[in-house]
Amino acid sequence: MTDTAKLILDGTTYELPIIVGTEGEKGIDISKLRQQTGHIALDPGFANTGSCRSAITFMDGEKGILRYRGIPIDQLAERSSFREVAYLLINGVLPTQKELNRFSVFLNDQSLVHEDMQFFFQNFPRASHPMGILSSMVTALKSFYPYLEDLEEETNITVTRLISKIRTLAAMSYKISRGHKVIYPRPDLTYCENFLNMMFDSPVKPYEIDRDVVQALSIFLILHADHEQNCSTAAVRVVGSGRVNLYAAISAGVAALWGPLHGGANQAVIEMLNDIVKNNISLKRIVERAKDKTDPFRLMGFGHRVYKTYDPRARIMKKMCDIILEKLNIDDPLLDVAKELEGIALEDEYFIDHNLYPNVDFYSGIVLRAIGIPTNMFTVMFAIGRLPGWIAQWKESIDSPDGKLNRPRQIYIGPTEKPYIPVDQRETVSR
Ligand code: CMC
Repeated sequence: MTDTAKLILDGTTYELPIIVGTEGEKGIDISKLRQQTGHIALDPGFANTGSCRSAITFMDGEKGILRYRGIPIDQLAERSSFREVAYLLINGVLPTQKELNRFSVFLNDQSLVHEDMQFFFQNFPRASHPMGILSSMVTALKSFYPYLEDLEEETNITVTRLISKIRTLAAMSYKISRGHKVIYPRPDLTYCENFLNMMFDSPVKPYEIDRDVVQALSIFLILHADHEQNCSTAAVRVVGSGRVNLYAAISAGVAALWGPLHGGANQAVIEMLNDIVKNNISLKRIVERAKDKTDPFRLMGFGHRVYKTYDPRARIMKKMCDIILEKLNIDDPLLDVAKELEGIALEDEYFIDHNLYPNVDFYSGIVLRAIGIPTNMFTVMFAIGRLPGWIAQWKESIDSPDGKLNRPRQIYIGPTEKPYIPVDQRETVSR
């Protein structure tokens, strides 16, 4: 097997090294391409570009495989906890019981947020989207918790601080948006229990923690915890490559996740399903609209840049919808609509030809609705889940010997050099 690729340009042959990953993925190393040939590679959307070597998450989009640090996602969803998965992603190995206990103590110690941060929340306009608030508040953490002396301590503390506080901030923003009293974290509760309690406990109606709800939330977060070089993770790596602080890099990830083609799709799916039910729209009509190239509408929760088969996370999420709805005795008409819509789309020639299958967002909103999360908080839930992945990827990029400032090039297609025209001559001379 050859370990170089040959590129012939203007009669000269260049040998480019071939890099092979542990799962047999192959890439052509073009890091010296411009230096050697004067050419750059052009790949809008980066569909063919590997931006790094990474040992965190493996995906096989053709086979529908997803593994964190080598462990299949279905095993983690079934047997692990979000806390443990966060540790695994960030540290590379599953924790021992002692390490897990220590991590839990750190998370507990860091769970309060500075009281003054509440003033920030109070002053966001009521209609603000929680993702905008979250992104701002994550950046603001830097001002409340400035640098520590030692970089290693700084990194360790910042990491646990972020994982712990993001859930407090999310719950606080929900309470304040409703004009309700903020509920503080409790040391006797686990990560997911604490989040649910901070969201839903009230002085007039104590929240009863339900094991099934906690389990559903934990699985939801595990399924979102990392997904290799997706849009928001790429944003975290790019922003982090300028050596900004971790809070700023994560805030960029939150902002990138907000978009409806990425994490914002979970909110968009529920809005689409609600619209179908409320306005009694025919499902065939929805599928026809999604196929119509003159219509910007897309079937939300369908399609993926990497998966060309059923997203393994969507498979688990769909199963979880049935389980949690049954356990909580909820009859959600949106689940029936979603299943019927999936059936129609999967039999449609366009969807078959384009390899379009449900992705993680297609069923996740139904789970979130069942456990009481309001629709405009759905993408915040995705962000809480994705945080350990962003941190692990940031850490890997900072520690990597390849870790350079991320700065792509371009092929310039604007005007060639032309003179400046004074304002009084612009009417008469071509601009
Ligand atoms: N509905 C209808 N057509 C679609 C859809 C869809 N959901 N997704 C892709 N296509 C078509 C697209 O029109 C194009 O057709 P053609 O080649 O005939 O012009 C073809 O499939 C390829 O689309 P693309 O946009 O070039 O492919 P991509 O890899 O850039 O798209 C995607 C990935 C997720 C942006 C896209 O599938 C999409 O917009 N899906 C809906 C939004 C969504 O559910 N996003 C969540 C993604 S999973 C969670 C996450 O990781 O963020």
